[in-house]
Amino acid sequence: MSREIRNIVILTGAGVSAESGLATFRAADGLWEDHRVEDVATPEAYRRDPVLVHRFYDARRARLCEVEPNAAHKALARLDAEWPGELLLVTQNVDDLHERAGSKRLLHMHGELTSGWCLACGERFAWEGPMGEGASCLQCGEVGQVRPDIVWFGEMPYDMDRIDEALRRADLFVSIGTSGAVYPAAGFVQTARCCGARTLEMNLDPSIGSTLFDESRLGPAGKLVPTWVAEMIGP
Ligand code: APR
Repeated sequence: MSREIRNIVILTGAGVSAESGLATFRAADGLWEDHRVEDVATPEAYRRDPVLVHRFYDARRARLCEVEPNAAHKALARLDAEWPGELLLVTQNVDDLHERAGSKRLLHMHGELTSGWCLACGERFAWEGPMGEGASCLQCGEVGQVRPDIVWFGEMPYDMDRIDEALRRADLFVSIGTSGAVYPAAGFVQTARCCGARTLEMNLDPSIGSTLFDESRLGPAGKLVPTWVAEMIGP
C-alpha cells in the first residue's frame, strides 16, 4: 500500500448479518420477495396501510432477540477498539448487531429497528418490543404517531454530512456485504476514491460497482473480515 493508512471508513450492508441468520434484501429468499418494497418501505405505504407496515417492522424487531453478532461483527468491533487512527463504521443495516458486538464509532444511515420516531413532536427514542399503530410517544404522549425510525425509500439517510466528511478524509474505504444497488451508499466508493483512498470490497458475490474497488475479496464476511482485521491490527 502506497499511502499510510490512518483514517478508515467501513460500509456494511445486509451481507454482514447474513451469517447471523438475518435475510438479505436482494437474495432469492430476501425480504423484498415476500413484500414489494413499495408496500412496506415508503412513506406512501405507511400512509396507506400503517397496520401492514407496523406488522412488517414489528416482526423484524422481534427477530433481533433470536440472533447474535457473528465473527464479522466481532472482528469489526475489535478493530474499532484497537485502531489508533480515525475509524467510522457506517451501516445500512437496521439491526443492532454491530453495537451488540461492541462497535462504538458507528452510524446507522438507514435508521434502527430499536428506535421510534414520533411524528407529532419529532422526538426519537429507544424502542423495545412491538410498536403497532396505536403506540404512545415516550416524549409527548401522543397516541398513534410513533413510526419505525427507519429511512424509507424517498427519504434522506441520516448523518450524510458526517459520512461525507469522513469519506473525504479516508485513507482506506472498505465495503462489506452490500450489493451496491442503493444510493447514496453505493456512491461512497467513488467519493473516497476521488479523494485518494484505497478501496477494498468484501462480499459473497461481486457487487454492482465492483470494478471501482482496488481490491475485491469474494467469500463470506464471517471468514473474510476477521482475516482482514488481523492484517490491520494483528491476530
Ligand atoms: N458475506 C458477505 N456478503 C454476503 C453474505 C455473506 N455471508 N451473504 C450475502 N452477501 C452479499 C450478497 O452477495 C449481496 O451482494 O451481501 C449483499 C447484500 O445485498 P442486499 O441484499 O442488496 O443488501 P444491501 O446492499 O445491504 O441493501 C441496501 O437496500 O432495501 C434497502 O434499506 C435497505 O439497507 C438496505 C439497502
